[in-house]
Amino acid sequence: MLGDRVNIKNVCVLGGSGFVGRHIVHQLAQADCRVRVLTRRRERAKGLIVLPTVEVVEANVFDAQDLARQFTGMDAVINLIGILHGGSGGRPERARSFEEVHVELPRRVVAACLGEGVPRLLHMSALGADRGGPSAYQRTKGAGEALVLEAGRIPREDGRSVAVTVFRPSVIFGPEDTFLNLFARLVRLFPVVPLANAKARFQPIYVEDVARAYVASLGEPRTFGQAYDLCGPASYSLEALVAFVARLVGSHARIVPLGPRLSYLQALALEFMPGRKLMTRDNFYSLQTDNVCAGSFPSIFGFDPMPLEAVAPRYLRQGMAGGRYDGFRRKARR
Ligand SMILES: NC(=O)c1ccc[n+]([C@@H]2O[C@H](COP(=O)([O-])OP(=O)(O)OC[C@H]3O[C@@H](n4cnc5c(N)ncnc54)[C@H](OP(=O)(O)O)[C@@H]3O)[C@@H](O)[C@H]2O)c1
Repeated sequence: MLGDRVNIKNVCVLGGSGFVGRHIVHQLAQADCRVRVLTRRRERAKGLIVLPTVEVVEANVFDAQDLARQFTGMDAVINLIGILHGGSGGRPERARSFEEVHVELPRRVVAACLGEGVPRLLHMSALGADRGGPSAYQRTKGAGEALVLEAGRIPREDGRSVAVTVFRPSVIFGPEDTFLNLFARLVRLFPVVPLANAKARFQPIYVEDVARAYVASLGEPRTFGQAYDLCGPASYSLEALVAFVARLVGSHARIVPLGPRLSYLQALALEFMPGRKLMTRDNFYSLQTDNVCAGSFPSIFGFDPMPLEAVAPRYLRQGMAGGRYDGFRRKARR
């Protein structure tokens, strides 16, 4: 059982339109919270608009006044905004840099919480976040979580404070994930899949379990000031994960692990390919350290995380069934 919970009713979610955000917002709505989701484009969050206690608002989260306006009257803020590929930043028309999204934005979120008297902040970091880490993603995630935790520790002169909890998940799986679904597409499309960093280890966590941990911690005082590593029950090498996905979708693709030099060259080539980036050199650097938890899943949340094998077959096999009809749809122009 959880301890004496703080009553939290109004929650503002940044990044609520994303893969993880949508699950958190659904669970918050089920827990009778009124939720305000901030987004750059309202149509990105169209699946959430239909929920009766959820409002979706277009906002510029990098604008201090806009942020303060959106946070007024909130009992809690959840910041999930993060990027895998950093741009050069600096000007609005350029893609935001890691520093802007993972460090500058959390700084502004904390300032707006303190300014508007929001007492509770949940912050999304990532397993492996480390100010001294090998990639810019990990270093900036590390700096962001450190400044958020620090802000939660220091009481202000005006007596205002914000109780902070940080979450550090390994790779997250679930329907619409970008990780397993990407490999499912690759093994279906190609007979041979050259795999960079094949020995890197992950401990995937189910997206619904991440959302449950967020909702459980929201009003739970024992989680204030804490950072939690979130992992599923088992760890796998990347090669084992891709082989597992291939088996599920009935692919006989040959997975060819690449050595360090070829892995780097593949990341370099993919970084400069036009269109949506599959991988960058920064991702390659992130994969130099294993993404696994040192301990077991935090017992304070009151549940055990789902095994990958119990969930992934449902949506990956479904994807395969849907994929069979893609050709007909294309022909019928639907
Ligand atoms: N997925 C994983 O495996 C995983 C693992 C560990 C940690 N995480 C962390 O979990 C968080 C959520 O991940 P996700 O997979 O749900 O990501 P996602 O699907 O890409 O969603 C990211 C969200 O951030 C918002 N966003 C992105 N760039 C923005 C910008 N420049 N300005 C304002 N908003 C921006 C987007 O909002 P709009 O487009 O609606 O404005 C979107 O809702 C991230 O912080 C990520 O680092 C994810």
